[in-house]
Order: sequence, then structure tokens, then C-alpha cells
Amino acid sequence: MVITLLYVLIFLLTLLLFHLVKMRSEVPRKRAKLPPGSMGWPYIGETLQLYSQDPNTFFASKQQRYGEIFKTHILGYPCVMLARPEAAKFVLVTQAHLFKPTYPKSKERLIGPSALFFNQGDYHIRLRKLVQGSLSLDAIRNLVADIEAVAVSASSSWSSGQMINTFHEMKKYSFEVGILAIFGHLEACLREELKNNYSIVDKGYNSLPTNIPGTPYKKALLAREKLSKILSDIVSERKEKKLVENDLLGCLLNSKDDKGEVLRDDQIADNIIGVLFAAQDTTASVMTWIVKYLHDEPKLLEAVKAEQMEIRRLNEENNQPLTWRQTRNMPISYKVVLESLRMASIISFTFREAVADVEYKGYLIPKGWKVMPLFRNIHHNPEFFTDPQKFDPSRFEVAPKPNTFMPFGSGIHACPGNELAKLEILIMVHHLVTNFGWEIVGSESGIQYGPFPVPRNGLPARFWRESITC
Ligand code: HEM
Repeated sequence: MVITLLYVLIFLLTLLLFHLVKMRSEVPRKRAKLPPGSMGWPYIGETLQLYSQDPNTFFASKQQRYGEIFKTHILGYPCVMLARPEAAKFVLVTQAHLFKPTYPKSKERLIGPSALFFNQGDYHIRLRKLVQGSLSLDAIRNLVADIEAVAVSASSSWSSGQMINTFHEMKKYSFEVGILAIFGHLEACLREELKNNYSIVDKGYNSLPTNIPGTPYKKALLAREKLSKILSDIVSERKEKKLVENDLLGCLLNSKDDKGEVLRDDQIADNIIGVLFAAQDTTASVMTWIVKYLHDEPKLLEAVKAEQMEIRRLNEENNQPLTWRQTRNMPISYKVVLESLRMASIISFTFREAVADVEYKGYLIPKGWKVMPLFRNIHHNPEFFTDPQKFDPSRFEVAPKPNTFMPFGSGIHACPGNELAKLEILIMVHHLVTNFGWEIVGSESGIQYGPFPVPRNGLPARFWRESITC
């Protein structure tokens, strides 16, 4: 009898303890409530609503209905979306340690798990220093002549009178510039091999992840293996010849951690593929938008042309190529680049995952939920950018308010390639307006997501050489 009573007592005490612990762990949940919003259907949530229309319409209508922080459920995950600059700063900068980067596993498999953007902590800091260093102003100022040569070569076929897909052509250019920043001058046959295999990987990024032979994803996985082999051969050759270069590969090869350990070949390969992935479609989409915006605004095109023709006139007079200093003094063209980055907001949002229950402005962001700072909504908010749908580069005569303009993200994962991206875009603009005229083919307007927003069908266009006298 006593023993039974003792058991009951122990049971009741355990129950009480369990409740106390549970109540303690629920304290933040009770105090803070989930943000407003709807979670849609079980499992699929609101994924169909998001992807069956222009995603911007989805975000904008949610923001209108629920305000600047709202919950939803997409791609199998509960999410909190944030459309205020200070909320983006909270997630990406001040409380960045509470939110980790998160990408679909299928993408991580193709790029490689050691790539910069999948990582956090000491490894991320080490890798970031290397990537940032090789893409710093000091490093890229020596690339102007080479990038200009790439622009000339990439556009050499444009004036044949044939219609071209502007986005595809810009992708060829941004890929070559990426190769230049990573390897410096690379043998033509190796470049071809990298290009051919990378283009197969590229097709896999947005395809259904399956191991079934013959599918784009499976082909991409096989091409990714070949890329590892090619990269490992390039690395071996550099090591054998004891070549010390200060391109990205050189920086990766020379790096040693505090224990004197060098990076493994797979870590080097993952980061090279990662940089190519981060550099190609992003920059190409922005350049495609610039071709469209300048086409649609003839007066602006004239102003950009006048600025660039003056540079060309000077260079022809002095028999010199485009210089770094000139690329830093193109005020009209530079504002066109900034306004295109704002208008097109090609990275419309980014994903993070809460690593703990987080409270923000009285709302709970539960551990494990995805968090999405919505860059495009911020860039298109009339509170920060008057008449936001108007393409108006002159708005950048005044610097935007802090945290309202984040085309390259913010905080510890902000884009280390932003200066290179702007440089290669300006060089392309210089080359484009001083050599070519163009018309857009077809009357179809609209946006296509792949996943970055690009004018429909990649902006089919016809280019011709203009016989321009300076
Ligand atoms: C107009 C072109 C570009 C845009 C709009 C852009 C935008 C961005 C954004 C928004 C992020 C941060 C993503 C996040 O926080 O989740 C990012 C990260 C990154 N970008 Fe760019 N990018 C561009 C071009 C480039 C280029 C040319 C390179 C390299 C040559 C590059 C390399 C990277 C890398 C390596 C990261 C990951 C950084 C990290 O996780 O620490 N990007 N980019």
C-alpha cells in the first residue's frame, strides 16, 4: 500500500515537473503571437497561389492585407515574410546569428555543400575573406582591359542581323567574366570544357530533382562530377608548376587555417561552382533589363550615349583602352545601373531559417520556420522610393535611406561580387551604346522567372552596328 502510494506520488511529481518544464519552454510562445497571415492547404500551403501568378502580386497583396510582417506556408515550409527595412536588418545584420542560410538540398547537391553561401561560423568567415579579397576593388581594377575584351568577343556576332536572345547572350558574357575572376587567363580548351559541362549543370538548377537517368537533374549531377575532375586537374597543374596567382583560385590555393591546413580539392571546387552560380544569371538578368530600359527611354539612352561617346572620343584621341578611372566616373550610366537594380530587383527576396524561437516586434518567429526579407517590396515601397514603378535614375542623385536599397543583400552573407558585377555591367553598357543600335523583337511584354525575373523570352532583340563618329 505504501509502495503504491509512493509510486502515485512519484508519478504525480513527474507530471508536475513535466508541466513546469513545458510551461517554461512555452513562455515566449505565450507572450508573443504568430504574425497575421494564412497558411493555406495542409502541406502545399500557399505554394500554388505564389507560383500560379507573378510572385510580386502575391507578396504585394499579402502585404496590403496583413501589413509588413506576415506568415504563410510555401514549398512545404511555414514562413514569415518581412517587408520593412528594419526587419531585414534584424534578420540579416543585427541578429544574423539567430538565422541560418537555407537552400533546397537539390541545389546544394549540384553546387557542393562547402560553397560559401551554405555555411556559417568560422568556415564561412575564412572562405568569405578569400572570396571577398579576390573580388575587392584592388583586385578587379586590373581586370578592366580583359573584361572589355570579353565584351567585344561576346558581342561579335550580334550585328549579323539575326534575332538574338539577349539574356542568353548576356549569360555568355557574365560566365566568361566569372571565369576571368576565378582563373585569370585559362587555356581555351579548358574554358570550353568548363563551359560545356557547366551549361548542363545550369539546366539542372531548376529541374525536378530525380536520379532517373536521362533527366536534366541526373545529367546535371553527372556534369557536376566531370566539373570536379576538370577543376582538380587545373588545381594539380597549378600546384605542379608552383604558379602563384592572385585570382580566386590562387587565393583558395594559398589559404591556410590557424592549424596550417590547406583547403581540400572538393572545398575549392564547391566554391568555384558556387561563385559561377552566384555570378552568372544575376548579372545577366540585370544587363538584359538595362537593354530593355534604355530601349524604352530614348532620351535616357541619348544621355548615356553622350556620356560614353565622350569617353570613347578621349580614348581614341589618346589611343588608349577604357581605364579603371573612367569606369569609376560614369555618373549617368552608374545611376542607370542602380535604378535597374532597384526596378528589376532580380533577387526579390532571400531565405533564412530561425535557429531558435525569435521574438520580433511582439511577434513570434518559431524555431525552424523560414524567414524571408522581401527586398523587392522594400525597393518598391513609395515611402522610400517616390513613384516606385517609374524608371527614374535621377532618384539616385540622393542616397537612399539606410537599409532601403539592398540589391546585393546585407550583413555577413551580402554579395562579395557586387563591385565586379557593377564593373562588368558598366563595361557592357559602354561597349553597347558606343557600338550598337537595337530594337526589341515582338510585342510581348511581361516577366519570366527562371528563377530570376527576366523580360519574357529573354528579350528577343536585333542589334546592328552604328557607324558612329566621335
Ligand atoms: C547584379 C548581380 C548580382 C546580384 C544582384 C547579386 C546579389 C546577391 C545577393 C542579394 C546576395 C545575398 C544573398 C543572401 O543574403 O541570401 C549575394 C550573395 C553572393 N554573391 Fe552575389 N549578386 C550579383 C553578382 C555576383 C557576382 C558577379 C559574384 C561573384 C563573382 C557574386 C557572388 C556572390 C557570393 C559568393 C554570394 C554568397 C555570399 C555569402 O554567403 O557570404 N554575386 N549576391
